[in-house]
Amino acid sequence: MALPNNNPTKTASWQKLTDHFNDINNITIKDLYKDENRASDFSLEFDDLLVDFSKNRITKETLDLLVELAKEVELKKAIESQFSGEVINVTEGRAVLHTALRSTSEEPVLVDGKNIKPQIQTALRKIKSFSNKVISGKWKGYTGKSITDVVNIGIGGSDLGPDMIVESLKFYKNKLNTHFVSNVDGDHVSEIIKNLNPETTLFVIVSKTFTTQETISNAETIKNWFLKSATIFDIPKHFVAVSTNLEAVDNFGIDKKNVFPMWNWVGGRFSLWSAVGLSISLSVGFDNYRELLDGAEEMDIHFRNEDFDNNIPVILALLSIWYNNFYLAETEAVLPYSQYLKKLPDYLQQAIMESNGKGVDRNGDKIDYQTGTIVWGSTGTNMQHAFMQLVHQGTKLIPADFIGYKESLYGLSDHHKKLMANYYGQMEALAFGKTKEEVHLELQFSGDEDKINALLPFKVFEGNRPSNAILFDKLTPKSLGKLVALYEHKIFAQGVLWNIYSYDQFGVELGKELANKLLNKQ
Ligand code: F6P
Repeated sequence: MALPNNNPTKTASWQKLTDHFNDINNITIKDLYKDENRASDFSLEFDDLLVDFSKNRITKETLDLLVELAKEVELKKAIESQFSGEVINVTEGRAVLHTALRSTSEEPVLVDGKNIKPQIQTALRKIKSFSNKVISGKWKGYTGKSITDVVNIGIGGSDLGPDMIVESLKFYKNKLNTHFVSNVDGDHVSEIIKNLNPETTLFVIVSKTFTTQETISNAETIKNWFLKSATIFDIPKHFVAVSTNLEAVDNFGIDKKNVFPMWNWVGGRFSLWSAVGLSISLSVGFDNYRELLDGAEEMDIHFRNEDFDNNIPVILALLSIWYNNFYLAETEAVLPYSQYLKKLPDYLQQAIMESNGKGVDRNGDKIDYQTGTIVWGSTGTNMQHAFMQLVHQGTKLIPADFIGYKESLYGLSDHHKKLMANYYGQMEALAFGKTKEEVHLELQFSGDEDKINALLPFKVFEGNRPSNAILFDKLTPKSLGKLVALYEHKIFAQGVLWNIYSYDQFGVELGKELANKLLNKQ
């Protein structure tokens, strides 16, 4: 058995957590904050990252019991199994090794008895040399012109990761314009190609299987559009592929030299660190791409080695379990205070919900406790003028991650001060709210004394709404790598805690099958 198999609800620590929950579930964050060391006692620092989780409904005892739970379900063993290449994706018979893609250590990682590190290095060299040629203009299109635009054709993990990173690292981008086509909706591809020049556009077809309906349809449509002005002999200059299915790539007409590898031991939604990230390397250059990988590797080392009570992904996973399984919160919000990160919630929806949206445990038995959280979000401050009303005063408990940066990229310090005042202000409002007495005084002061009775209940903020502050010094390729790897590890840790398989996705198959049946009937 490659992964431990423990029903979390049958552990001693779960029972203790249940009792403890009954004891403290009326506790308020405001009360907890009477302890003047609260913020520092419930914060973790890791290089340029500070995670302040003090505004949660937890005590030291809660944390200890949650850590005990992690130990009881043998999380440490599971982490080791993942990093060392055991077949932990049991239902698909695969190892899960996105961590090997960013590893710079000499330590071999074996798959079927063979060290995979050399092939990863070869792929990285190929990404580097190809990116350099295209960015420098040495790579020419069929009329001798340099490339100006790159189009990534893919969907799911072959789209969301690269798209999110390219958007997040826009500040670091070079002169190439990068576009993403994913939806089988023909209007999507039409909108993208309408302004492109076939002579100067490079298409990167990304599909692990090279059978995905959306990607192949878009690739065929684009090839036909391209062939209106060029010939099949020009295809090698404009089409490259990232795939494991070499035969299908060849049938499509792509030159073998232009194929970048993907491997079965990398899941689609964890693949941006492989050649699936080619469009990232094209957009920001290989050195920045490597920095992204380096940041992720730093988080990998932290996750693998740090004790659970100092381990950022583990602590965030445990907090999420606390709200999901004890408070029965159904959703979590991810709220980046950086416009660059506007695509992060979409990316995390696949990473989190495709991984942990499972209702059967590792024995194949139906689960009678809650698993996979629903994740959603948007950027601050825009969302303050959209959905935050519900988070502040609605009937639902929605734990939220606030992601922020101490420094902005363009300066404009006045804007950044305002942005960060909102970042902290929102978390404070959620945690501490506004009492009846405070509202009363406020209305009195503003001369609205006659309206006090009518308005008071509507203006009260109960508070006691949890949040985590995830604060980096600055948005760089490296800090972004760390952030994404943090969430990846949180996902895995939660999957282990819930005793589910996080790395398959059978739930997306039935809809695909039925769509194909319906198509064949037409
Ligand atoms: O949505 C299902 C899925 O299999 C994802 O896991 C994957 O990222 C996506 O489809 C795309 O698959 P492929 O890279 O094989 O085209």
